Amino acid sequence: MLILNKTAGVFSKPSKRKVYEFLRSFNIYPGTLFLHKLVLGIETSCDDTAAAVVDETGNVLGEAMHSQTEVHLKTGGIIPPVAQQLHRENIQRIVQEALSVSRISPSELSAIATTIKPGLALSLGVGLSFSLQLVDQLKKPFIPIHHMEAHALTIRLTNKVEFPFLVLLISGGHCLLALVRGVSDFLLLGKSLDIAPGDMLDKVARRLSLIRHPECSTMSGGKAIEHLAKQGNRFHFDIKPPMQRAKNCDFSFSGLQHVIDKTIMQKEKEEGIEKGQILSSAADIAAAVQHTTACHLAKRTHRAILFCKQRNLLSQSNAVLVVSGGVASNLYIRKALEIVTNATQCTLLCPPPRLCTDNGIMIAWNGIERLRAGLGILHNIEGVRYEPKCPLGVDISKEVGEAAIKVPRLKMKI
Ligand code: KG4
Ligand code: ZN
Repeated sequence: MLILNKTAGVFSKPSKRKVYEFLRSFNIYPGTLFLHKLVLGIETSCDDTAAAVVDETGNVLGEAMHSQTEVHLKTGGIIPPVAQQLHRENIQRIVQEALSVSRISPSELSAIATTIKPGLALSLGVGLSFSLQLVDQLKKPFIPIHHMEAHALTIRLTNKVEFPFLVLLISGGHCLLALVRGVSDFLLLGKSLDIAPGDMLDKVARRLSLIRHPECSTMSGGKAIEHLAKQGNRFHFDIKPPMQRAKNCDFSFSGLQHVIDKTIMQKEKEEGIEKGQILSSAADIAAAVQHTTACHLAKRTHRAILFCKQRNLLSQSNAVLVVSGGVASNLYIRKALEIVTNATQCTLLCPPPRLCTDNGIMIAWNGIERLRAGLGILHNIEGVRYEPKCPLGVDISKEVGEAAIKVPRLKMKI
């Protein structure tokens, strides 16, 4: 049995609170009646336990989050049963906190939206079984959420962005380029053929032992690389971007990771230090890997923009490129993408960093988007399962490759 308090905490907008409280004094619950749709979003697909309550206009009424980053940094990566245990220990408290801060009664919710795909099976399972119990207890509709769809739509909470737009999603588990034509209408233009950029940056950071670096010890791998790269000189290492001959929008990062591994091994020999100690050239390596990653992402995105314009899938003069996912909080990578959007008369939009990484708000907002569009709202939860692997949209990456669009060279002066 889940125990949820009715109300507590503060509203984000006092004027709205007054309206709600006034109506409540007559036993009228605005969330369920006529004012706003309210969705509770729950996210547990990877290593963050997050929840939020968001209304139809994008107001975040309450939010809570428990990050497992520190634990996983210590164990050198995510160990799924550890992630599962931490989700189990925290989910009730986090959902309760999001609801309490929002000061709504659970009965006012229009629906509960939860990430059910893709992600770590053990982590997804915790969020889903908790949500299904809650749905059953509160008798609310359930909205299953695709984690990458949620990342893609977050921008519509923070900015006025109409469909269609192009999205580049770059995180620890994903790397894809897609055309977003509607709430659940995606054309997949390209994806990583091996690991995601965040995964590669995490591995490089681990290999460089950045957890032992006094300035980076609590940062995720990608963040540590970005931080250290500012002190480094990328020209000390010449690392070529991958897949330069493949004229498609796919990505690859494992080759790059191996090149960096070899470089680190070589430098360790030269500097006469053991694996686990910090190289004097760590910042230069960080700068070089960040630059090569940025160039690779920029080139494939440039091709995707040209493809969409060639096929009239995007406006010629008002096209929007959205970049989201944990790696999108990297300002160097954003600048590389800005060079591309400037050259192609597009607008680059990124959610604020805290909404780029995993959070409950994006899941609740995806729920609102689906409620408004009348898509995937379940009144019967029988047979709902989580899916660790799940593609996003219709895959047209073969067609993109066949178009073999040559991308003009841009000067990547970042
Ligand atoms: O979206 P996210 O929070 O989780 C999923 O993977 O879905 O992304 C986490 C990833 C990690 O690999 C982390 O190293 C990377 O995002 N990341 C960054 C930065 N901040 C987080 N990568 C590059 N630069 C950053 N500033
Ligand atoms: Zn994510």
